[in-house]
Amino acid sequence: MVKIAPSLLSADFLHLEKDVKMCCDNADFLHLDIMDGVFVPNISYGFPVVEAISEIATIPMDVHLMIADPGKYISRFAKCGAKMVSFHLEAAGEKTQEVIDLIRYLGMSPGVVINPDLPVSSLYPYLESVDYVLLMSVFAGFGGQKFIEDTYERVRTLKDEIDRRRLDVEIEVDGGVSPSNAPALIKAGASILVAGSSVFKSEDPAATIEAMRQII
Ligand code: DX5
Ligand code: ZN
Repeated sequence: MVKIAPSLLSADFLHLEKDVKMCCDNADFLHLDIMDGVFVPNISYGFPVVEAISEIATIPMDVHLMIADPGKYISRFAKCGAKMVSFHLEAAGEKTQEVIDLIRYLGMSPGVVINPDLPVSSLYPYLESVDYVLLMSVFAGFGGQKFIEDTYERVRTLKDEIDRRRLDVEIEVDGGVSPSNAPALIKAGASILVAGSSVFKSEDPAATIEAMRQII
């Protein structure tokens, strides 16, 4: 069954506890977007917020790092209680394997992310050592962007390669995901869907999460 990871970037920050509890009651992971204003032209939130969320979280925290030099901060996120940590290949460059190994060494699940303009084959060297790969279906940096249609094909290509190597690597998709494109993403091979605005701007967030679990 597909897992849903609501992105708290679109939550109500004045009532964050309410939104975190709603996610814990209805979703599988809490997706936390960390932006540094350097790797992406936006700044989100940092350690104190992640720590506070960890105190009430009853589902795993899925931390998506959109920061330069990600290796530098991995141990801080481990201390904050992250269970899954993903970082951008574009940001880590030749240190990518080192950062994956560090995340694993600290007892968390490593994931590598790419923006829509990198070929999925750039992830192939890391497929044996990650638990999941995250395909951005918008350019990282902002919530509420339009889903890029090419993503279905990218998910299929990646899924074929994962299956060909008989690996147990999950494909997560992030950006513009909603109940209308979820079925095709699941069919293409995605098993974790991140959704920010479609969940939090909807009238009934719990029902929207449920609607994305549709099985083809
Ligand atoms: C964008 C973030 C996403 C974002 C998704 O850079 O990585 O997680 O919050 O938001 P929506 O679902 O609104 O595109
Ligand atoms: Zn994200």
